[in-house]
Amino acid sequence: MVEVRVDAIEKRFGSTQVLRGIDIHVPDGAFAVLVGPSGCGKSTLLRLLAGLEEATAGSIRFGARDVTQLEPRARDVAMVFQSYALYPHLTVRQNLGFGLKIRGTDKATIRARVDEVAGMLGLEALLDRYPRALSGGQRQRVAMGRAIVRRPALFLFDEPLSNLDAKLRAQVRVEIRRQHDQLSATSIYVTHDQVEAMTLADVMFVLNAGKVEQYGSPAEVYGRPATRFVAGFLGSPAMNFIEATVERAGARAYATTTTAATGAEGDAATLRVAIPEGQFKHRFQDGERVTVGIRPHDVALARGDGAPELEFTSGLVELLGPELQAHGQLGETPVTVCLATDSQARRGQRLRLRVEHLHLFDPDTGASLR
Ligand SMILES: Nc1ncnc2c1ncn2[C@@H]1O[C@H](COP(=O)(O)OP(=O)(O)OP(=O)(O)O)[C@@H](O)[C@H]1O
Ligand SMILES: [Mg+2]
Repeated sequence: MVEVRVDAIEKRFGSTQVLRGIDIHVPDGAFAVLVGPSGCGKSTLLRLLAGLEEATAGSIRFGARDVTQLEPRARDVAMVFQSYALYPHLTVRQNLGFGLKIRGTDKATIRARVDEVAGMLGLEALLDRYPRALSGGQRQRVAMGRAIVRRPALFLFDEPLSNLDAKLRAQVRVEIRRQHDQLSATSIYVTHDQVEAMTLADVMFVLNAGKVEQYGSPAEVYGRPATRFVAGFLGSPAMNFIEATVERAGARAYATTTTAATGAEGDAATLRVAIPEGQFKHRFQDGERVTVGIRPHDVALARGDGAPELEFTSGLVELLGPELQAHGQLGETPVTVCLATDSQARRGQRLRLRVEHLHLFDPDTGASLR
């Protein structure tokens, strides 16, 4: 168990700067998730924490210890990778005990620890098998067991589930979180899967191009994205972004867009949504440009009274079990909304919608207007 502090970390490979000044604080015992698109520097940061790469600038502290210059062995971390890298010629028991054996741990202790960890992970019946006789999920559990058996102060995971199919991924994800709650060792977990990030994290760090774009609890980051990038990265289907103009009418302000008849179905589409000004510190000026962000689930069919806030003619409608996804267009801008199946939305239907929650961004900087 250890608290992790990363200060102003930079990493360059030759002339390419991959990490551009990263600060991260993970409290003792927390489950932190680093999430971001491919190539943003997640694995590089994890490898720096493990000591497998050297930082170009900045420092890494585990509790009171400055580990920036320490060898991997001296850091007391265990890393679980995407590829399980089990030893094919060793049984599950031998694979689990290998790390302890090379550290000179005595046989009785190895046996006891391996049995304990096998019990935790439900691997008892598999201890004498070889990796080739295991399923993907079982192999991944052995790889985790190999890390747990060493009782490290810090667990580092680099996309450990990405080789598993969707169902198994969900199962092992729950398993990982359960292990964490039992062992309460500090964990740092890398993924580009936002569902994993949202469900596993106590604290999540959204990385973009070598910088932390936002951090906080999943609920904070999802509910109050600080930038358009974060807003678009988290959530499925992705948030809709619509360029609009502020229109002041008396005491109220609206964000409006009207497009000529260029939509997929050849009808005009409109957005005219009231801005709940009380929720924003920003003062909205008549004629000001804003980017409106609407999550696909944050709409509902308008009731009879009052003008709809978002209106377009539906293109493709997909049935996804409990809900429908209707796709359309505001001019060139694609729009996706999720509606209850009993809304019976169909292709070619005019959709008149209320917007239940909206986000607003500065169209030039992408910063959230708050
Ligand atoms: N040894 C290296 N030499 C040069 N460039 C590297 C090296 N390792 C990584 N990079 C570059 O650094 C950037 C970040 O790589 P990294 O592996 O950290 O990304 P990532 O966020 O883990 O992506 P992914 O989600 O695809 O795994 C990439 O542009 C990559 O090409
Ligand atoms: Mg990676």
